Amino acid sequence: MKLVLAFVNPEKLWELKKKMFEVKTPGISVDQVMGIGKPLARMADMIERHGAIPKFFPKIRVEVVVPDDKVEEILGAIREICYTGNPGDGKVFVIPVDDALRVRTNERGEAAIR
Ligand SMILES: Nc1ncnc2c1ncn2[C@@H]1O[C@H](COP(=O)(O)OP(=O)(O)OP(=O)(O)O)[C@@H](O)[C@H]1O
Ligand SMILES: [Mg+2]
Repeated sequence: MKLVLAFVNPEKLWELKKKMFEVKTPGISVDQVMGIGKPLARMADMIERHGAIPKFFPKIRVEVVVPDDKVEEILGAIREICYTGNPGDGKVFVIPVDDALRVRTNERGEAAIR
């Protein structure tokens, strides 16, 4: 299993939620966060030369735990919805997940996310 942890633009949240259910995600958690990505060349220069501090931007953190064979489909879905070609389109991390527990049934591992 993997945790797909994505930071995306808030205006994509509704469309992304719709898409996640089209590709049958087993569950999804979201949160509003503030984030900073890699500074663009001009900002990097401002930081370096003038000690400028980059600004936080509002982002949505999306968390989806899926079986390994579902990861590419989820990444594709995120890209399909969130890509504009502009800086700040988002960043996605794929993180190993050791185990899961569905509290109600006591199912473990992949059974808990089916
Ligand atoms: N290395 C990181 N660690 C933690 N969070 C990150 C990291 N990189 C990006 N993020 C989160 O993802 C959000 C979106 O990142 P962003 O799309 O700006 O990435 P980028 O690497 O700057 O690419 P781009 O050049 O397309 O802007 C950030 O605002 C931040 O919340
Ligand atoms: Mg950026």
